[in-house]
Amino acid sequence: VAPAGAGPESPAPPVCVLVLGMAGSGKTTLVQRLTAHLHSQNSPPYVINLDPAVHELPFPANIDIRDTVKYKEVMKQYGLGPNGGIVTSLNLFATRFDQVMKFIEKRQNTSQYVLIDTPGQIEVFTWSASGTIITEALASTFPSVVVYVMDTSRSTSPITFMSNMLYACSILYKTKLPFILAMNKTDIIDHSFAVEWMQDFEIFQDALNQETTYVSNLTRSMSLVLDEFYSSLKVVGVSAVLGTGLDEFFVKVSEAVDEYEREY
Ligand code: GTP
Repeated sequence: VAPAGAGPESPAPPVCVLVLGMAGSGKTTLVQRLTAHLHSQNSPPYVINLDPAVHELPFPANIDIRDTVKYKEVMKQYGLGPNGGIVTSLNLFATRFDQVMKFIEKRQNTSQYVLIDTPGQIEVFTWSASGTIITEALASTFPSVVVYVMDTSRSTSPITFMSNMLYACSILYKTKLPFILAMNKTDIIDHSFAVEWMQDFEIFQDALNQETTYVSNLTRSMSLVLDEFYSSLKVVGVSAVLGTGLDEFFVKVSEAVDEYEREY
């Protein structure tokens, strides 16, 4: 979606890259690495941190939720635990997201990408009103892509892999945005096993045959259901620690945006 006033001579609007994933999957490290990569290509991104509870950010954020909402104060003031504190902080921040949008709009001639790091616990963002408000605000103004970060090294069991894929699929349904699966931590284990599982049902079945539980039967059926999800899914293997796979990552981002714009 081109921003208002964008004519043929205007520069392309920035692409918003929303980085989501399970706790510890490597979201923050990936945002750090993507930021460094874009700087090295003379294309500095606009970086937004939406995690109010992060101790130290390893990248310089242009907008940091922690500058606006003090998560520990919110916990004290509203008598909340850690998760309630994070959700409430995000809600408070979402009420001012129109200001964030204005900042991004001002930067649209200078930044090709807006990178957005989200809270550690994925459901805080994907299943909260504020996460929906923020996602919709971004996606209604700028081309936007969801990047689901998967910890490949923790997805080597077919059942764990399947539950990760079901989660990814639910986020695709929830956001209805172009979607990229970033298989992270490929320095620990190559992601080819997971790609094979997605491409060849029988290889996945063979892996599952080692398990004989109710869950494995369910997983067998689920893998058939997910076939359609897999066939249109954009997958890229990355190592946020080593910085590998990032050129391919940005190729997938461009493809995802182009396909989405052609379809809608
Ligand atoms: P939370 O915000 O705490 O949920 O985590 P996160 O998803 O932002 O992950 P983070 O970037 O904090 O990384 C979690 C751990 O995984 C850290 O110890 C990272 O050093 C490690 N890590 C992240 N990416 C990679 C990677 O590509 N390879 C390896 N080996 N470790 C990684």
